[in-house]
Order: sequence, then C-alpha cells, then structure tokens
Amino acid sequence: MTATSPVNLDPIARFRTLFEEVLKTPRELLPEPTAFALGTVDAEGQPSVRIVLLKGVDERGFVFYTNFESRKGRELLATRRAALCFHWQHLELQVRVEGDVETVSDAEADAYFASRARGSQIGAWASAQSRPMENPTDLVDRVAEIERRFAGGAVPRPPHWSGFLVRPRRIEFWKGMPSRLHVRELYVRDESAWSVQRLYP
Ligand SMILES: Cc1cc2nc3c(=O)[nH]c(=O)nc-3n(C[C@H](O)[C@H](O)[C@H](O)COP(=O)(O)O)c2cc1C
Repeated sequence: MTATSPVNLDPIARFRTLFEEVLKTPRELLPEPTAFALGTVDAEGQPSVRIVLLKGVDERGFVFYTNFESRKGRELLATRRAALCFHWQHLELQVRVEGDVETVSDAEADAYFASRARGSQIGAWASAQSRPMENPTDLVDRVAEIERRFAGGAVPRPPHWSGFLVRPRRIEFWKGMPSRLHVRELYVRDESAWSVQRLYP
C-alpha cells in the first residue's frame, strides 16, 4: 500500500481491513481483540483512561457502549471529545484515534442491547457504574431486584445506558520495526478530506 493509494487515504477503511485480520487471531493469543483504552477529560482538564470494547466500526467511526452516568459517560457528554488507543502486541501494532463524540440513536442502542446476554442486560440496570457502593452485597441485591422486576419478560434498555460514536479527526497507525525505526502514519481530517503524513518514531 502506498501513501497515495485510495484505501490509504481512508483511514477508517484501513482500520476496518486491519481489524478484520485482528479478529482472526486465536483467542489464546489475543483474548480481547476488541479492547481499547478510552481517554476522556474532565472540566478541570484531568484526563482519565480505562478499557472498553469496540462494538462497531463503520464509515461514521467507532462505537462502544456504556453507562451514560459513569465517569466516562458524564465526561463524554460534557466535552464531546475522546481519544482511543488500540494495541495488538502480537502484530506490533498500535492505532491511536482522536475525535468528536456523538450518541448513537435509540434504535441502534436498542438493537445492540437486545443482542446482549440476559445477564449483561440485568447488569446494565443493576450497576450504578462509577458511583460509590455502600455494602459489598448491594450489587447482588440489586441484581436480584432487577431479575424480579423483569421476571418472565424481555429486559428493556435502561435509559442511562447507550452507545457513543467517535467520529475521528486523527488516526495514527504505528507499526513496530527493528531498531525502533517504527513506522508512524498520521491521518488528519480537514472538513471531509483526509491527508496523511509520516511521523518520526
Ligand atoms: C477487558 C475490559 C472490557 C471492558 N469493556 C467495557 C465496556 O465495553 N463498557 C464499559 O462501560 N466498561 C467496560 N469495562 C470497564 C471499564 O474499564 C471501567 O472500569 C468502567 O466502565 C468504569 O469506568 P469510568 O468510571 O471511568 O466510567 C471493561 C473493562 C475491561 C478490563
């Protein structure tokens, strides 16, 4: 692939091709192929980072799901900015993404929530993610209460649980090379057009 080939000028397409390869990796080698580090920032400029799972990538960008009342949820809703970092050690690859955050539609979130295992659906209701928990048994008690509430029926998506879409403005592909002469290719979006440049490692 050269710097001017069409696929190379669409970094999301490049990511999707790469990601398809990554997903073929045996789970013994890569137990969580979709995991990435998600960086957010609070009102004081304090960054924080945690692992989440990528649930979709299409021409719009990158989709993941979470509790909107969690720390990350509140920060993303306030700043509308996020950074993502994927690391696939066995391929000596890192992909860094920065972009603007939107929420997915209710229909998209409902469809994904409906595809989840019932235990995960119950958990999404039971966990007041990132909030202090008074007693160690509180979570188990809440799970039991939610199971009773939805006994025998479908579990609807909680109103505070949905997806974020990160529309990328920058995507950098890093490939490990001998003697630390790594290859870095940075794509930057200006309006709707992407440009690409090499960076020193
Ligand atoms: C492998 C792995 C996958 C995870 N996937 C998710 C996820 O998809 N969504 C999520 O909200 N939390 C996920 N978590 C938990 C987050 O890392 C984090 O602990 C939680 O979301 C609370 O983060 P916050 O307090 O910064 O909002 C995952 C953790 C690990 C280790």
